[in-house]
Amino acid sequence: MSAPIPPVANAPRRILMGPGPSDTHTRVLAALAQPTVGHLDPYFLKIMNEVQAMLRVVFQTTNPLTIAVSGTGSAGMEACVVNLVSPGDRMVVGVNGVFGGRMKDVAERAGAVVHAMERPFGEVFTLEEIEKAVKTHKPQVVGIVHAETSTGACQPMEGIAKIVHDAGAVLIMDCVTSLGGRPVRIDDWGVDAAYSGTQKCLSCPPGLSPLTFGPRALERLDARKTKVQSWYLDLSMVRNYWAESSRVYHHTAPINMNYGLHEALRIVLEEGLDVRFARHLKNHYALRAGLTALGIQFAVAEENRLPMLNAVFIPQGVDDAAVRSRLLNEFGIEIGAGLGPMKGKTWRIGLMGETSCPRNVLNFLAALENCLSAQKFPMQAGAGIAAANDVYQ
Ligand SMILES: Cc1ncc(COP(=O)(O)O)c(C=O)c1O
Repeated sequence: MSAPIPPVANAPRRILMGPGPSDTHTRVLAALAQPTVGHLDPYFLKIMNEVQAMLRVVFQTTNPLTIAVSGTGSAGMEACVVNLVSPGDRMVVGVNGVFGGRMKDVAERAGAVVHAMERPFGEVFTLEEIEKAVKTHKPQVVGIVHAETSTGACQPMEGIAKIVHDAGAVLIMDCVTSLGGRPVRIDDWGVDAAYSGTQKCLSCPPGLSPLTFGPRALERLDARKTKVQSWYLDLSMVRNYWAESSRVYHHTAPINMNYGLHEALRIVLEEGLDVRFARHLKNHYALRAGLTALGIQFAVAEENRLPMLNAVFIPQGVDDAAVRSRLLNEFGIEIGAGLGPMKGKTWRIGLMGETSCPRNVLNFLAALENCLSAQKFPMQAGAGIAAANDVYQ
């Protein structure tokens, strides 16, 4: 069989203001291009140790089992669930968006009897609701999404672990979109297992899933009577590859992806977590001011908004797809469409990691005004940029 050889890949330069991936720093791209070494090469083992140490800082944890799972955020989700759930276990999952729904699906496939604790998209759970669900359903595992990328809502985490632990269960937290963009305090919050993704606020291409397991989660893993459903994600084996003392081959690690994550984490720590969180907030405030001045409403109550994922209602009479494709084709800006029941109703404007900067906020507001005026949307010309500039002055 023969096929014509296609031309060399020549990716367009975009400004990634969607729900992820975010823009990648050139230092990370350069790190990805370093020579590939073996997965047990002493150089790579050193990189792994350093990735683990930096991930502990970003996760705010001392958990020894803090690693980069091979695979995207969904692999981290699956790793947490399949290692902590045995067939027949009860699990309560908070479903207030697409990713809570995905966790429920993963848990059911792993044989859990799942109770979905539901909330309308865009809302978050109260401690009372969580306590009621835990008391009623007596789960062994509870799963919750900290930053729901499908809706732009941030779940307050304080107090949840106590309810879960008092009931003898363990808590899994999805922090795919929050890690590196707003505080994720694994130890302070008492979270037992958490996972993230590289392509959001860490600004590394997609391909690895930072994961951390605390003592209660490890105890549960060690006490399993049945094999973990997934061979690839079985942490009882994977951890021997990441443990400094053993280094037993399990699968061939994505070497260059780990170089990329290593550099991305160095950039995060050079900036400093608090400075980085403040930057995400400031750019969110500027974007919020600009959008509000244009008459665009946020889909999430102010107190629960994620700074890195701005979900806004598409104004009446405006053609969703036409605006998104004009932004992409004329201005090179990608924003996200609404997901699930928000499809066609919201835009998701990401300000994650490298993408979160005044240049992108101001460019975006100018480009959006251009797209909206092409659709005769009534607004005061320049109002968005002026309002954003007020925040930056
Ligand atoms: C909150 C959340 N959880 C899980 C995932 C799944 O991650 P991935 O698409 O990297 O597999 C995503 C991806 O957007 C997400 O936003």
